[in-house]
Amino acid sequence: MKVLIINGSPRKDGNCARLITELESVFAKEKVEVEEFRIGTRAIRGCIACGHCYEAGACAFDDEVNALAKKLEGSDGLIVVSPVYYGSANGSVVALLDRLFYSSHCEKRMKVGAAFAVARRGGTTATFDELNKYFTLNQMPIASGRYWNIAFGREKGQVEQDLEGLQNARIVARNMVFLMRSIALGKEAYGLPETEETVRTHFIR
Ligand SMILES: Cc1cc2nc3c(=O)[nH]c(=O)nc-3n(C[C@H](O)[C@H](O)[C@H](O)COP(=O)(O)O)c2cc1C
Repeated sequence: MKVLIINGSPRKDGNCARLITELESVFAKEKVEVEEFRIGTRAIRGCIACGHCYEAGACAFDDEVNALAKKLEGSDGLIVVSPVYYGSANGSVVALLDRLFYSSHCEKRMKVGAAFAVARRGGTTATFDELNKYFTLNQMPIASGRYWNIAFGREKGQVEQDLEGLQNARIVARNMVFLMRSIALGKEAYGLPETEETVRTHFIR
């Protein structure tokens, strides 16, 4: 079992990083392999709708997005942890996820997803919803927790005081392990669900 974790914060050792250590403590105990990708201060550009990926199955900008697509292919689960910026995920996270999910053609069905939003005070639930859409639009079941997957803190390390947020993160990680294991068993017993040819209805007549 392997989980890919994307830390969307540019701050080293920030609150997202602290929350991730909580997730990692569970994965270590459960002997689940973790690979972490920290966006940091990299310049990640957005999708330019060039369509290169339709044929190539990879983004025209051959940067960390294409590298991450390969890592995602080899993972059973994906966790995205983002700081809240103006009531939304950090712009680099959105740029990265748009391109990752649009350009990569790897099988994403039944990989388990989980998202976390970390903020000083506001915009957490909107960010949580925003991030969950990448999973729900890609047939990825979501590991949920006991409450919202949010945690609070402004200065580095302040999230340490949000005991409920950290506890919820541990619960999500445990549920994610359970789901990944159950899905692996289900795949073995029944295979992946039948698919259908894509129908696209653009509402233009
Ligand atoms: C550009 C910017 C915008 C922010 N916008 C919000 C916001 O809308 N709501 C909020 O509660 N905190 C906001 N914050 C605070 C961060 O979400 C908070 O400091 C968080 O802990 C950062 O996580 P990190 O330490 O992992 O980088 C903002 C911070 C920055 C730098």
